[in-house]
Amino acid sequence: MKIRPFHLERYFAQHEFSARYLLSSSDCDGFSLSEILLMANPKEREQWNSLQLGYTESSGLPELREEIAKLYKGASPDDVFVLSPGEANFIAMNVLLQAGDHVICMAPAYQSLYEVARSVGTDLSFWNPVLNQAAWYYDPKELEKLITDRTKLIILNFPHNPTGYIPTKDDYYKIISIARARGIFIFADEMYHLLEHHPQDILPPMCEVYERSISLWGMAKTFALAGLRLGWVVCKDTAVMEQMKRYKDYLTICNPSTSEVLALIALRNKHKLIEHNLKKIAANLQLFTKFCEQHSQHFQFAPTRAGSTAFVKWLGKEPSLAFSDKLVTNTGIMTLPAEMFDFGSSHFRIGFGRKNMHEPLEILSRYLRANY
Ligand SMILES: Cc1ncc(COP(=O)(O)O)c(C=O)c1O
Repeated sequence: MKIRPFHLERYFAQHEFSARYLLSSSDCDGFSLSEILLMANPKEREQWNSLQLGYTESSGLPELREEIAKLYKGASPDDVFVLSPGEANFIAMNVLLQAGDHVICMAPAYQSLYEVARSVGTDLSFWNPVLNQAAWYYDPKELEKLITDRTKLIILNFPHNPTGYIPTKDDYYKIISIARARGIFIFADEMYHLLEHHPQDILPPMCEVYERSISLWGMAKTFALAGLRLGWVVCKDTAVMEQMKRYKDYLTICNPSTSEVLALIALRNKHKLIEHNLKKIAANLQLFTKFCEQHSQHFQFAPTRAGSTAFVKWLGKEPSLAFSDKLVTNTGIMTLPAEMFDFGSSHFRIGFGRKNMHEPLEILSRYLRANY
């Protein structure tokens, strides 16, 4: 199987560990091992200290699957399969799709969401948003127009990376009824679930409300534990689930025991982790909104309602990739240009999850005033 390079990950590989400031990361600052272990009760601490570093159960630690099932109304541990999110996406696309199928994916998107489907030989259509007064909008009517007789799968990502978009409940159920009327499967990447900025915007996970769907979530974004490399899918279709499990035997086989126990402790303390991240995102969103007001000749931005990222319109003449390359060389600030999303050259992703955000914004402000 041949697959194109993952542009975003290659750009991060180039700059993430050498740039001084990361202004475009989608995760929040990671919690430390000691912070997580401090949250453990005596029984969990003992579980950690006596942990064996052997192979683990392929579907995931039973206690962890139980804890994850509690996050979904009507789910049982048997509906949960623990694996890394990238692996889940890779497996799901290979299990659900074959060459010649038609697939619809939101754009811009985290590339693996559509690139794996493309590598299988499917025919891809993108559901593009419109920019309405600097705010993004995904119109379900536009989605409906893309559907053909061969449409097998719709790939969604709410809250959305990079735009920070979350649909209204009304639009969410419209999307579901479009899929349900034609028996189309939905792959719902919910990596940013519970990072909605207002509780009233939180959507029910797709697997709770649509029987032909897979919900994906994990530890990296909502819980700021990307280093665990752990996530899960929840799916009520037992045949699909069984095929996914068989596929994993050719990839990681099973999960790291260390990550499973740490994820268990973290999920049992999820409110503390989420509150911490949401506070940081809210403060940074305010900072960035003010920054954009002062730089209205450079950027167009409408505050987002969900997730830890925004996709901001760049008003400069230079393509965003050229600007990003110069910026990281001249100031040490890494930004992520639209080119990494196969989405033109006039936007940047901004990340709100880093506590030092005021520092790169001050430097960027001076840089823009001096050079643009
Ligand atoms: C929408 C989306 N899905 C999946 C992933 C992959 O998550 P992980 O880093 O935990 O593998 C990411 C990571 O950035 C993402 O933004």
